[in-house]
Amino acid sequence: MKKISDKYTIYGRKKGRKKINIVEKDFFVNCRINLETDIKKNKMNIIDVGSGRGENTLFLAKKNPDALIIATEIFWDGNINLCKQLSKLRLYNVKIFSNNVLKLFDNLNKDDYFNEIWILFPDPWPKKKHYKRRLINDNFFTKVYPYLKKNGKIFIATDSSSYLKSIMNSIYKTKSLFNWLNNKPQNWIYDMLDLPYTKFFKKAQNSYRPSFFIELEKI
Ligand SMILES: C[S@@+](CC[C@H](N)C(=O)[O-])C[C@H]1O[C@@H](n2cnc3c(N)ncnc32)[C@H](O)[C@@H]1O
Repeated sequence: MKKISDKYTIYGRKKGRKKINIVEKDFFVNCRINLETDIKKNKMNIIDVGSGRGENTLFLAKKNPDALIIATEIFWDGNINLCKQLSKLRLYNVKIFSNNVLKLFDNLNKDDYFNEIWILFPDPWPKKKHYKRRLINDNFFTKVYPYLKKNGKIFIATDSSSYLKSIMNSIYKTKSLFNWLNNKPQNWIYDMLDLPYTKFFKKAQNSYRPSFFIELEKI
């Protein structure tokens, strides 16, 4: 059995190579989420899982000015970059949870808090021996289900064909929980949709790898 301390391990980089300057300390402190109060007081809550440098979080914050956007990311440089942008653009509807998103769910009662969960370009872990590190699997869909509002949405993007295949498998296995809204291949093309150009989307584009987008709705 996994030790409690291992349960929320995220593999991969937590700090970049470049030296970074911390933004205004107060602003950074104010950006951190208070799970007790912030989520419960908002009518509309959206999670951006693995927000990276924060491009999608900014996109969502501008698009949904009345919603609270929760950026979950352990990559320190990404969170600092996001904070700088929030301060510059004077956006106040974003909070950061700098830990594993699974820990966020475990720290809440099972209740329908969230309208949307976005997961753009989750780490693909392309080697077979690392597939178990992937965030999205059958367990993930079952886990998030109780925390989503009725008709709540999950949005996923990936440029990994093997991850896409395994996500589709999980969607099939959990089809009593979610409807796949854009299940026709012509509607999966990320570039054709009004979506942010995140770092990992651009990386895929530069390598001529197509990016796929999936929209699910809670039944
Ligand atoms: C490939 S990057 C994609 C970043 C961004 N969404 C983009 O499109 O550029 C995946 C990010 O997810 C973060 N991540 C991985 N597992 C996570 C988890 N369980 N909870 C929160 N963040 C996670 C990683 O730290 C990494 O920054």
